[in-house]
Amino acid sequence: MSNKAIAAAHWRPAFHLSPAQGLMNDPNGLIHFAGHYHVFFQWNPHACTHGAKSWGHASSPNLLDWTIHPPALEPGDWYDSHGCYSGSAWVMDGRLWLIYTGNVREGTERKSYQCLAVSDDGIHFAKQGPTLHHPPAGYTTHFRDPRLWQNEDGFHMVIGAQRNNGSGTILHFHSQTLQNWTLCGELLPDNKHGYMCECPELFTLQNRQLLLFCPQGPEGESWPYPNANASCYCSMDQNDSGFAKPQLLDYGPDFYAAQTMQDLDGKRIMWGWMGRPEQPHTPSVAAGWTHCLSVPRVLDWHDGQLSQQPHPALQALRGDCLQLANQAISGQWQHPGVHGECCELDITLSTTDGSACHIMLRQGPHCHTRLSWLPAMEELELDTRHSGTGDGRISRAPLPASTRMHLRLLLDRSSLEIFANDGKVVLSACLFPDRGAEGISLLADGSAHIEHLAFWPIKPMNVHIAETREDLAP
Ligand code: FRU
Repeated sequence: MSNKAIAAAHWRPAFHLSPAQGLMNDPNGLIHFAGHYHVFFQWNPHACTHGAKSWGHASSPNLLDWTIHPPALEPGDWYDSHGCYSGSAWVMDGRLWLIYTGNVREGTERKSYQCLAVSDDGIHFAKQGPTLHHPPAGYTTHFRDPRLWQNEDGFHMVIGAQRNNGSGTILHFHSQTLQNWTLCGELLPDNKHGYMCECPELFTLQNRQLLLFCPQGPEGESWPYPNANASCYCSMDQNDSGFAKPQLLDYGPDFYAAQTMQDLDGKRIMWGWMGRPEQPHTPSVAAGWTHCLSVPRVLDWHDGQLSQQPHPALQALRGDCLQLANQAISGQWQHPGVHGECCELDITLSTTDGSACHIMLRQGPHCHTRLSWLPAMEELELDTRHSGTGDGRISRAPLPASTRMHLRLLLDRSSLEIFANDGKVVLSACLFPDRGAEGISLLADGSAHIEHLAFWPIKPMNVHIAETREDLAP
């Protein structure tokens, strides 16, 4: 291993799925099949660049012990020569079916085929070729990421699309047989969603229809989202005639292409890609891999808003809990038991004078990540500009006016997920701190209080690579 690779090895996530080598992006085909959760993902095993993608594959009985299988799909056929792009999974007649976009390049021309594959054991897949050969009239070949579901009246799917006028939308199709597809219409009829909408998904959550999608736009004055590639949702209740204004799923810099599945108890679980298309390289490239997935998050609908919480199964990874109550923060606050690179912090803060309170994370002599609660501005602010190696930025999320703030933070070796306000405000970021930067402290500009704090070190998940029989050791 080169010196650079050794230096980068300490960023390997302990409780997030990451690629053994190469580049990982979107979660795909999330499903529970034959007693296991299956998480497929976009993967370039050959380089840390976006290229001809395979479907990487991990499965787990419990969300904690993972086996990495050989890729479920690899590019190379006439209909997917330049990549087996994102898609979804469903179970039919006891078999596991996949639908994905076959990406083909002929010179500068792109072709997008929506293709099927099927498996009896959930590990080995037989490609079945295209089920939909081209986009309908009026749309370009930016036509990808089919999300399929089955109803009493047949098969439905939503696909990310671009109109001939260069604007993004989502198309809804129906088929009785998986052979002939009828276009039912556009789910986002207006022109406000950038030049393409990637990775759509439509599902019901507590009597509401939720539409997840990723609008891609030109960053700038007229773009309503903080990132060029945004991760959004729209909702519609039974009495509404259309989807409400899109909301951000995540206000941080590194969350994209989220997909969900329903577990055996009916819980809606979401994973996202912790990365973004505009930033292919991270400092971990020096160790031969880049990007990871988020933790699985349980979705709920509360007080007119979507909430996300880490899946409760992850609590089994917690070490001994340290609990504190009623601590005044005058100036700076630190506790010898509260520090680490893989840990969870659950904290309720209050202020009487509305002044700011800052939480410093992954602090070392030359780096820190700052999360600021700004009650007067009704905002959370995440500053990753000094987090370590790599570029950083300031991200902001709106909060309701309050003198109290509840935060749940998950820190892994190279990531941070922030669940604020009972998971109604979420920020995700990749961080590449210096080795040994484990400090956590609080700073108050005025009078602030820790009402309650719980802290746990987090143990690594078991990730076993089936092919080489090795563990993917953090
Ligand atoms: C989103 C995306 C999808 C595409 C895949 C290719 O990140 O661009 O639209 O199917 O990644 O890897």
